[in-house]
This record gives sequence, C-alpha cells and structure tokens, in this order.
Amino acid sequence: MDKIKIIGGRQLNGLIHISGAKNAALPLMAATLLTDEKVTLSNMPMLSDVTFLNKLLRELGTEIEEKQDIINAYPSNTYTYQTKDFKSLVAPYDYVRKMRASYYVLGPILTRVGHVELSLPGGCAIGARPMDIHLNSLEKMGAVIEIKNGYVIADAPKGLKGTHIIFEKASVGATCNILMAATLAKGETLIENAAQEPEIGDLIDLLTKMGAKIEGKNTSQLKIEGVKSLKSATHQVLPDRIEAGSYAIAAAITKGRIHLAGAVAEHLKTPLNILRAMDIKITEKPDGIVVNAQNAVMTGQDIMTDYYPGFPTDLQAQFMALMTVTPGASMVTENIWENRFMHVPELMRMGANINVHGHASAIVRGVKKLSGAPVMATDLRASFALVLAGLAAEGETIVNRVYHLDRGYEKLEEKLKAVGADIERIKEED
Ligand code: UD1
Repeated sequence: MDKIKIIGGRQLNGLIHISGAKNAALPLMAATLLTDEKVTLSNMPMLSDVTFLNKLLRELGTEIEEKQDIINAYPSNTYTYQTKDFKSLVAPYDYVRKMRASYYVLGPILTRVGHVELSLPGGCAIGARPMDIHLNSLEKMGAVIEIKNGYVIADAPKGLKGTHIIFEKASVGATCNILMAATLAKGETLIENAAQEPEIGDLIDLLTKMGAKIEGKNTSQLKIEGVKSLKSATHQVLPDRIEAGSYAIAAAITKGRIHLAGAVAEHLKTPLNILRAMDIKITEKPDGIVVNAQNAVMTGQDIMTDYYPGFPTDLQAQFMALMTVTPGASMVTENIWENRFMHVPELMRMGANINVHGHASAIVRGVKKLSGAPVMATDLRASFALVLAGLAAEGETIVNRVYHLDRGYEKLEEKLKAVGADIERIKEED
C-alpha cells in the first residue's frame, strides 16, 4: 500500500487548481441512468471513487466514452454515458461495501424500470450511516421494499407516484436519490427539509437540462413535476468546495499564500469567515480565491459543523489540524456524524493537545510545534488532516493508507509540490 512522506516546515505559496467536485460527480453519474440517451459530464475529477462508480455503471449496462479535456487550462476527464438497456438491476455488496455512494443508483433505476436490488451499506468509520430516509420516502412514493439477505429489493411495477415528503434530517444522499426518483414519477413530489448543499444545485441543473421540471433550487423545499422521459444533456461539474477549503487550510497552517483557481467563495462562506476571524486575508478573484496567511496573527476559533450553509463536517478534521498549532483554545463540535474524531489520537501522537468530551466536542489547545510521526487515518478527510499536520510539523511524517486520499484529492502530491511542499508518494507492493 502506498504511503505519503512529508517533511514539514515549508511555507506554501502559489497556485492550486481546484478540480471538479467528487460529491457532485457521483450523483450526476447516477442521474445518467434516468435516460436511454447520451449524457456528457465534463470537468470530472480523476479520483478512484469516480473510476469505481464507472465500473458499477458498466456492470449495470452503461456504455461510457472517455476523453481527456482541458477546462480552464487544466486537464480533466469528460465522460459520455448511455444506458440504452440495463444488463443488471443489482448493485452488489462488493460495490456498496467499498463505496457507499453506489446507493445513488437506487432512485434512478427504480423510477426508470420499476425494479432494483441494492446491497444495504453497513456503517463506516464516521458513523452508522442509515438509509431509512431514502427507503421510507420511496415507500411513500408507492415502492414496495423488502430487505432480504442484506439487500434492499425495491419494486414499483406501475411506476412511482408523486407525494408530499418531509425529511426528518436534511440528508444529502436522500435528497439526491428522491429528487432523481421524482423526475420520472407520476404527478408532483414535494420534498420539505431537503438538503441545500451546492452539489444538489448541480444535480438539479443537470436534471433540468435533461428535461426534468424542478422548482426550489438552493432552498429546503423542492417541487418536482414528474415527466414521461428524460433526454440527452451536457454538463460541467462544479468545483470541489471541500478540496478548496482543504487547501485554504494548507495555506493557513503553513502561514503561506495560495491562489485557489476555480474555487467558488459563495460555497465556502462559513469556513472562509472563520479564516477571516483568524486574521487571514481572503480575496475573491474572478477566477477563484486567494488565501493569504503570511502575516496573520492567528488565534483559536470555535466551530460547530452543520448542514449547508453551516460549517461543513467534511472540513472539520482539517480545521482541527489547524487549531492544533494555533495559539489559544478552540472548541470543535461535530453535529453531523457520531464518530468523526478518529483523527484525534493520531494528531495527539504528533504532539497535539486535544481533549475530547463525549462523542461530539473537543477542546484543542494550540501547541508551538507538532513533530512528524508515522500516522494513519480511517477516512478521507481525516487523512488530509494528517497531511496538513505533517506540512506544519517538524521533521518527517509518513501518512499511511493513502487509498483514502486517492478517493477524494486529485493529484494531491503534485498540487502540494507545486506550491512548495516537500512531499512524495512512496510506492509499495501490496
Ligand atoms: C454526504 C457526503 C459526505 C458528507 C455528508 C454530510 C457524498 C458522497 N457524501 O454524505 O461527504 O459528510 O453528506 O454533509 O456526498 N441520515 C439518516 N438517515 C438517512 C440518511 C442520513 O439518519 O437515511 C443521517 C446520517 O446518519 C447523518 C446525517 O443524516 O447523521 C447526514 O447524512 P447525509 O447528509 O445523508 O450524508 P451522505 O449523503 O451519506
């Protein structure tokens, strides 16, 4: 398994291009299953999660054409998807177990052909991650759902029916799944307490281009008028706000200055305001955001993760890494996932001073220096937090389990090297 070696202490200065958003790309790919016509997605990030979902789509019967493209002077992938007929209506255990987002195929297949079988995802490193909201909503839309041998078996032989659904929690996954299902349902579906993350807006944009009738983009109330069929469309994936936020924190933790080319400030309002409160200069440019921490006199800040537009849980671990070397005390509260402090013991092995209270909050007291160490994390964002700690630490840090990073950070070492980091991948045979 590959490792990443970092020698800390370099100030990072320069430009990083922000890739297409992973969490937008995955539901967009599933949305292509809603039509038998061609759907083209450009600015697709080169990530293992995308390759993996492509593999599942091919097993289901999707033909995929791939080409390299240049978007905003930066290479990315463009894929054209076409699912004329389904070869299989089953998303097997091996896929869903390895990538939960495989569950995005549930809504589109069920609404298009009336039957789908999906292995139920189990828990994962950051929490139990149930699917009750997805399944209860589909039942309300007339699906008959049975759980058998670890699989969700869903039937709607006469199609789904529009209805009024109130989500118990503003779940991103359930919003995408039910939104896609509703596009081909009979009549009107009203979703209340829908998630409002920008990736959902991106999905609504693609579905609308495909001929779906959706009102309420960027609000918690979505009204979908079902149509008979959807058609061909072309769409460019929006930039990854979590990747941009992660590199903004890299500028902060190394007291450097990074131009995040392509990043959208509007999507990062809460985290950027926290960085501003730390005396870091944030400048919005027509082509991105400049984060300048060169002369910042930083002090600890409190954050609480929340649904969008609150502080994103997917930046909590990275922010905590920054707090470990920021003078003063900071309180970090995790409100979305019940088990998302797995990075804490690893940061403490590097010399961080962190006290965890219960499952949801931690007090971080800034130390003068972290010291490099071999570390590993159990999820994607926690792994990036350890990379950040390594960039700030004295000496050598080895981050193990790099496959987590490959799921969500395109060309990580290349991007960090370009702004001055001393970082390399150590290839190792399994
Ligand atoms: C998505 C993101 C993930 C991010 C999360 C929250 C993708 C591929 N993943 O995950 O990176 O951390 O949003 O911003 O986009 N819940 C239920 N029942 C359900 C569904 C969810 O109780 O049926 C709960 C979850 O346990 C969690 C909360 O709702 O506590 C939010 O989960 P959700 O928004 O669904 O997260 P994901 O879509 O899985």
